[in-house]
Amino acid sequence: METTASESNGAGPVNEGGKDNALSPSDLSEVLAAGTKEVHEKAENTQFVKDFLRGRIRKELFKRGAVALYYTYTAMEEEIERNKEHPHFAPLYFPTELNRHEALARDLEYFYGPDWQSQVSCSQATQRYVDRIHQVGQEDPVLLVAHAYTRYMGDLSGGQVLRKVAQRAMKLPATGEGLEFYQFDGISNAKAFKQLYRSRMNELELDMDIKKRLVEEAVKAFQFNMEVFDELEEIGGTIQEDVLDAGMSVHGAVGGDTS
Ligand code: HEM
Repeated sequence: METTASESNGAGPVNEGGKDNALSPSDLSEVLAAGTKEVHEKAENTQFVKDFLRGRIRKELFKRGAVALYYTYTAMEEEIERNKEHPHFAPLYFPTELNRHEALARDLEYFYGPDWQSQVSCSQATQRYVDRIHQVGQEDPVLLVAHAYTRYMGDLSGGQVLRKVAQRAMKLPATGEGLEFYQFDGISNAKAFKQLYRSRMNELELDMDIKKRLVEEAVKAFQFNMEVFDELEEIGGTIQEDVLDAGMSVHGAVGGDTS
């Protein structure tokens, strides 16, 4: 499928992001990128994320991570739906291209089986993130932009690499089961889509004060993500039995570590 961003929210040609790349430091895309640079580096350096990138992925933790993402995206996409006509969000409404909720439900069904819903629950750190998303969506919708930016732009930036690493490490089917979250079927060119998304962010009529609040909220969103990673890391310390799933020889892995 092609990246037809304009189809779902009815504005502008697909390549509008490319028509004028002259950015100003006060453009929201630049303010957000600069304002989250430091916390992005921090997120990259959390143990869970570092292990993931090295292919040290324990299936049980990966599954719990998918559960956390499921609750997070369910909340975010519910609030996005509520605010899809809000002038401070409408230009960023791309459900066909971006929505992850259904893909995550299919991933969870793959991992947990048909009765997956009765087997999963929202962890404490995820619940705090979810609560904040609902609060923002209902009380201060302009801040929803920060949450959408933090997750979707991140997913579009690293998703393909993470998908390959996870597939290899856990020996998941090459056909993509269990990893649908990482696959954006409605986006053929992630780089072009990110450009479009940035240009849409920059079209929002926001004063500098609101842009600053958006940076603060995006930093918070990164922190919520890190808290979820840290929680997974902690859970990882309490479960030992799944190491055989982590991509090493079934007969070689002993004692709760994959190294
Ligand atoms: C962008 C790498 C983790 C959110 C990027 C880009 C890279 C990258 C290379 C730039 C892509 C581009 O400009 O086209 C990584 C690596 C990570 C990681 C190696 C882990 C080791 C995260 C996490 C989050 C995140 C945990 C948030 C939950 C973002 C966002 C952007 C981004 C929002 C867009 C920045 C912008 O252009 O404004 N990441 N990332 N990343 N990443 Fe990450």
